[in-house]
Amino acid sequence: LVTVREIYRDREKYLNKEISVGGWVRSVRDSKTFGFLVLHDGTFFETLQVVYHDKMENFTDICKLNVGAAVVVKGILVPTPQAKQPFEIQAEEVEIEGASASDYPLQKKRHSFEYLRTISHLRPRTNTFQAVFRVRSLIAYAIHQFFQDRDFVYVHTPLITGSDCEGAGEMFQVTTMDLADIPKTDDGKVDFSKDFFGKATNLTVSGQLNGETFAQAFRNIYTFGPTFRAENSNTTRHAAEFWMIEPEIAFADLQDDMILAEAMLKYVIRYVLEHAPEEMEFFNSFVDKGLLDRLNHVLNSDFARVSYTEAVEILEKNNDKFDYKVSWGCDLQTEHERYLTEQIYKRPVFVTDYPKEIKAFYMKLNEDGKTVAAMDCLVPGIGEIIGGSQREDDYGILMGRMEELGLKPEDYGFYLDLRKYGSTRHAGFGLGFERCVMYLTGMSNIRDVVPFPRTVGNCEL
Ligand code: 4AD
Ligand code: MG
Repeated sequence: LVTVREIYRDREKYLNKEISVGGWVRSVRDSKTFGFLVLHDGTFFETLQVVYHDKMENFTDICKLNVGAAVVVKGILVPTPQAKQPFEIQAEEVEIEGASASDYPLQKKRHSFEYLRTISHLRPRTNTFQAVFRVRSLIAYAIHQFFQDRDFVYVHTPLITGSDCEGAGEMFQVTTMDLADIPKTDDGKVDFSKDFFGKATNLTVSGQLNGETFAQAFRNIYTFGPTFRAENSNTTRHAAEFWMIEPEIAFADLQDDMILAEAMLKYVIRYVLEHAPEEMEFFNSFVDKGLLDRLNHVLNSDFARVSYTEAVEILEKNNDKFDYKVSWGCDLQTEHERYLTEQIYKRPVFVTDYPKEIKAFYMKLNEDGKTVAAMDCLVPGIGEIIGGSQREDDYGILMGRMEELGLKPEDYGFYLDLRKYGSTRHAGFGLGFERCVMYLTGMSNIRDVVPFPRTVGNCEL
């Protein structure tokens, strides 16, 4: 079978020749002696029109086809200079591979994203989700290419772990114990010692701690895998299961970290503009009108940089615009992040050096003793897309931070070892893959960039 993508990319090769194409029916129109089928074959944005006629023995069956039916068409590809589409197939045979019931939910009209979420097994057949998931696939490939071209080693970090990297306690527990009969210790806590791993375990919230061990062996590494957070946040940018890309670089500081993050995002933007022009044009026309201008502007400018302290000064002056009022020490909310990147800088911005109280234990303490060498990258339309930091590489200071936060050193022996045996300056960041897909497509809800989203109260399919 020839694909519609091949036909569009290499039309001279197929015009006026006999070809076979397999696809799904988007619409059927018939008159007494002939009819039109519009096919979508999943390989390309455009559809292909098929003309069929009553000399075919199954003419009446074809006329009766419903939207969604699967067919294989054999015929001649002919140019149609007068028509909207550049060519069509004059069919010789239309083989019905699988008919479609008349209650097929995807009819020609436009469906709302809310409705399509209820049929996540069928929505990939629509134009919008064809574009979203093809671009999602390309972004994943571009990210691997970016790191592989720079000799980063791809590390598969575990999904089941005993640690809580971010220390936020937002973990899905993993157990094989019968919930009806969970053993308790004398002080009333759940006793995991007889459980599968002999201790409490959970799904990972980040691969970073394991990633750091590989950075201290290979210098430059990255992870790219699923992560899980039991955050009770019902928002358009939080999912319970999402993918994260986490590079980690040794002999490097926060500045190097930001240079890497900016280069990566620009690389990926350039890649999708080049490799999915039809899809990007579609998003620009039907999903987010300013998308292409905005992305091109990003390619032609430097990301802004501002310290947390300066950002708070700017935000405090605009406190009348926010639901949550800002003051030094508070965590920035989405509304503040978006105000900074959309109203103040009008492009991506790195906010650096946050108060240590609102950041994770592993971040390097700055000279002031109050802030840490952290950076968040904020982008228009979303807010935080990347969170990263230089890591605390001093054994004593790290130990002190862990004690302050009540973390048990025995649970982090391997992590402390890295500071004991050839510790280096090192840094890394986590890019939320779904947020990256949202940013590049203009889609405004994380549920619409994940094939089968898991969010609070929702784990369908
Ligand atoms: O800022 P976070 O929590 O950072 C870390 O996990 C670090 N260990 C990363 C590192 O330095 N190696 O998460 C990183 C990114 C966020 O900026 C956001 O884009 C995404 O992960 N993210 C989520 N995306 C979707 N749904 C959620 N619930 C998310 N939580 C974080
Ligand atoms: Mg963060």
